[in-house]
Amino acid sequence: LADGPLKGKRVLVTSGPTHEPIDPVRYIANRSSGAQGTAIASALAALGADVVFVTGPADVPPPTGVSVVRVETAQQMHDAVHEALPCDAAVFAAAVADWKVDGAGDSKIKKVAGQLPTLSFTENPDILASVAQMDTGRPRLVVGFAAETDDVLANATAKHARKGCDWLLANDVRPETGIMGGGENAVHLVTGDGVEDWPRMAKAEVARKLAARMAEALA
Ligand code: C5P
Repeated sequence: LADGPLKGKRVLVTSGPTHEPIDPVRYIANRSSGAQGTAIASALAALGADVVFVTGPADVPPPTGVSVVRVETAQQMHDAVHEALPCDAAVFAAAVADWKVDGAGDSKIKKVAGQLPTLSFTENPDILASVAQMDTGRPRLVVGFAAETDDVLANATAKHARKGCDWLLANDVRPETGIMGGGENAVHLVTGDGVEDWPRMAKAEVARKLAARMAEALA
């Protein structure tokens, strides 16, 4: 482990998309690459943190120097996160599927000429809220993300309050921003004190800035 201001601190990071099975061969996914979460885990480890990295099936490889827990579904991510507690801080950068498909079983849905399948859904657990709202054993610093396409700031401020996290990093993921899957990010940091607009910068730089702020807050 690196020496640094986060030495001796255990930090949990979620990252990547989740996959929600429809049947054993099909699934529903999203466009998260895992790049921002991976960069954050890497920056925290570089400051000496003991990082538990819970990742869905991401495009980018996990960082070195962290303990990696690989999951596929939102429910598995929820369970892995709660197993990894207690920790000093947690960053929820994963793009978790909001819904899972009912009745996804061991048999492939057969194609029948002239018939269309119908999918029904159940809500997945909100992992961030489940940790941010813990009565006992809550991490001291809980950081969420909000990927928005509309009314970024209004939605982010509302989400900060609703989820119960300490900080929320909001970003605009409209396709024309090139942020999802790209190398850069432009975020707004919502805290109890207000909103800070960070300039557009490399995801690695967002990660370093966030890790440094977290080290200050946990000092
Ligand atoms: O509500 P929304 O999905 O926009 O909230 C985004 C934040 O909540 C992210 O930090 C994401 O990782 C987290 N989240 C979660 N579990 C969910 C949904 C979102 O941890 N089921």
